[in-house]
Amino acid sequence: MEQLLSQIEAYKKEIEGFAASDGKAVEEFRIKWLGTKGIVKEIMGEMKNVPADKKKEFGQILNEFKLFTENKYENLRESTGNRQLAPSNQLDLSLPGDPIPLGTRHPITLMRNRIVSIFQRLGFAVTEGPEIEDDWHNFTALNLHEHHPARDMQDTFYVQQNPDWLLRTHTSNVQIREMEKGKLPIRGIYPGRVYRNETVSARSHCFFHQVEGLYIDENVSFADLKQTLYFFVKEMYGKDVKVRFRPSYFPFTEPSAEMDVTCFICGGVGCNICKKTGWVEILGCGMVHPNVLSNCHIDPNKYTGFAFGMGIERPAMLKYGVNDLRLFSENDVRFLKQFTSAI
Ligand code: PHE
Repeated sequence: MEQLLSQIEAYKKEIEGFAASDGKAVEEFRIKWLGTKGIVKEIMGEMKNVPADKKKEFGQILNEFKLFTENKYENLRESTGNRQLAPSNQLDLSLPGDPIPLGTRHPITLMRNRIVSIFQRLGFAVTEGPEIEDDWHNFTALNLHEHHPARDMQDTFYVQQNPDWLLRTHTSNVQIREMEKGKLPIRGIYPGRVYRNETVSARSHCFFHQVEGLYIDENVSFADLKQTLYFFVKEMYGKDVKVRFRPSYFPFTEPSAEMDVTCFICGGVGCNICKKTGWVEILGCGMVHPNVLSNCHIDPNKYTGFAFGMGIERPAMLKYGVNDLRLFSENDVRFLKQFTSAI
């Protein structure tokens, strides 16, 4: 018995003097002393050799030795930072959480939402269409037959495997898809991305965004078109902005026009943005061509309608003072986080 007692004392000294510099040393300590084949287990096993009348006394000594070793182990873990997670009821819920960084909307999204929401207030419903389109919806149904010279106005990306497929060159494909549904009247606004095979530079890009509008009903006239666009311009650019329509040509509208507004940078005096004219072109429009209505099984003798289409990039560049189109698609966070408007 004496031998056992002095053995325990020696162990205690050894434990007391032990220092660990890292988690690995702490783990080695645990295995040596507290592991299933460790010294504490072994010493506890000595109990069976202790005479019955000494069992109580020895039991205490052994227990104390076990506790002593366990305490040392806990202290070692704490000092090397190798703590156990606090049980959940000890979590301090008043501690501040990790900040969640708040994103911002893309300037193109902001401008699209602005444009779309103005037309929504007039009862135009938003619909989107496919960016990979067939020839019919992007060209033929819009009165651009196979050899129509106006197809060259828009340099098209074709899908190699099937030349009938292409990346839409404008959002006008959505007006065809909506008219084909055969539900009249139609009053829709169609935002989306479009593609043209152009060299990427500060002023042009191989993809950009448009918003198309379409209104088809009985007795829709050019006057309705003008009033709708007047309302849009006043909401978008303010009451004092002047508007002018210039005759133009689109195969899918007749008559066709382009609409200019007084330059919102110089107020119409003339600057670099408006090339000293005082006007900026913002959209193309016109009365839907009777051939287009027929192509979509709408009777042109009963129904008329107007359509318009505008780019999103240019007004966004002017509004936010962005001078390079490429910035919109580079996704540089330093650029993107500058736009914090609510819509
Ligand atoms: N689709 C034409 C374009 O991309 C714009 C437009 C739409 C013109 C509708 C008239 C009517 O240039």
